[in-house]
Amino acid sequence: MNSQLRIHILTLFPAMFDSPFKHGVIARAIAKGLIELHMLDIRNFSSDPHQRVDSMRFGGGPGMVLRPEPIAAAIESTGNDRHVIYLTPQGTPFTQHHSERLSALNNLTLLCGRYEGIDERIRSLYVDEELSIGDYVLTGGEIPAMVLVDSIARLVPGVVGKEESVKADSHSSGLLEHPHYTRPRQFKGLSVPEVLLSGNHANVKLWERRESLRRTLVTRPEMLQDLALSQDELDWLLEAEPKAARVLQKKSK
Ligand code: ADE
Repeated sequence: MNSQLRIHILTLFPAMFDSPFKHGVIARAIAKGLIELHMLDIRNFSSDPHQRVDSMRFGGGPGMVLRPEPIAAAIESTGNDRHVIYLTPQGTPFTQHHSERLSALNNLTLLCGRYEGIDERIRSLYVDEELSIGDYVLTGGEIPAMVLVDSIARLVPGVVGKEESVKADSHSSGLLEHPHYTRPRQFKGLSVPEVLLSGNHANVKLWERRESLRRTLVTRPEMLQDLALSQDELDWLLEAEPKAARVLQKKSK
């Protein structure tokens, strides 16, 4: 069977990927043949006798830059249907929307930078998209590539058992997830909310929706800006979280 998604990771440190995908959901998806992961060592594409892949920058300045030839050869080896993503702190911030779009592709090539960066001509000639995993600088694109693979792979159909649990994820729905509880009913003086034990499905749904709204309002209020809230929901938030909900009142005026 052909896998639904082939991912090539171009890196100078392929051994960094030895363990992260050998566990849990992603390992099972690979074993089932739903996704394929190929780590390519950029150094193997160097024609330099010492397999050097970096050089001093033109114009002077500190830090080395990755030369274009080995990267170009590595990218070209990943197939013509590739979609090339360069991981860089200068990229667009990666979100669940990217993940949803990218999980529908068949061939992803993730390019991990190191040193001061890559030769600009690789960006011009080969890179389709530049993504950052956040406003902080890491030592390379390997950990960001792991983050992308984990997030994208779990959206490939069949990878996560129940489609439901993917749809209810924080961010997929535009809201953060409501709290979850399991046994025991009492833990260090804290009890499970009564409504969850009531067996009343409609009340449980209402509680989950409200707690999702509350959590989103308190930690990520900006996520509520574009969401259409009902008058009931607005009233409930104003009562439950009067301070935080003031921003919503201003908005609805
Ligand atoms: N490389 C170094 N820092 C990074 C970041 N925050 N996101 C993506 N790639 C990076």
